[in-house]
Amino acid sequence: MQLIFATNNKHKLEEVRHRLPNYKILGTQDIGCFEDIAETGSTFEENAEIKAQYILTHYGYSCFADDSGLVVEALNGEPGVYSARYSGEHNNVEANINKLLTKLRGISNRKAKFVTVICLLMDGKKYFFRGEIHGTITTKKKGVEGFGYDPVFLPDGYTKTFAELSMDEKNKVSHRALAIQKMVTRLTFN
Ligand code: IMP
Repeated sequence: MQLIFATNNKHKLEEVRHRLPNYKILGTQDIGCFEDIAETGSTFEENAEIKAQYILTHYGYSCFADDSGLVVEALNGEPGVYSARYSGEHNNVEANINKLLTKLRGISNRKAKFVTVICLLMDGKKYFFRGEIHGTITTKKKGVEGFGYDPVFLPDGYTKTFAELSMDEKNKVSHRALAIQKMVTRLTFN
């Protein structure tokens, strides 16, 4: 069985392939799709669906897509779907983290969560799978592993930020892993 994952991110493809050995998982470039699909939604669900629907409509394949971000309680859910471009510039990690820490300066409620939503379009049906991990935002960056907001995210029950954990340790508990696991369960036992 074949499924398209609407991403070109090698790490994400690897993680899903590892967990779904009975499926042939192809990325967007594997089906000749080189377009940059605009994420114009205002929720993770909307953005994941936009990407999956684009592939189904234009290429006719069963497909899934993900959208993730950081949700900070005291900032009314910011940066949310704007996590990658919080500072205005796409994927400027330094600037994004600086903006976050500046906005939280003097605020004692540091609660936050990472969220991943996967939208799967298959056999004329639409499924959503959501993974979340709760934690707090530190006042300073710590660690060099991972990416994005990892150096300032301290998962609940841990004394290390995501950037101080190994990829394996993070992948056991991450929002993305949880969402993927829910989809894997659905695809495996249905
Ligand atoms: P994407 O939808 O997976 O591309 O994630 C969008 C943005 O959310 C990323 O560019 C990061 O800024 C942030 N983000 C998502 N997942 C993580 C994570 O596991 N660690 C740190 N930042 C993340």
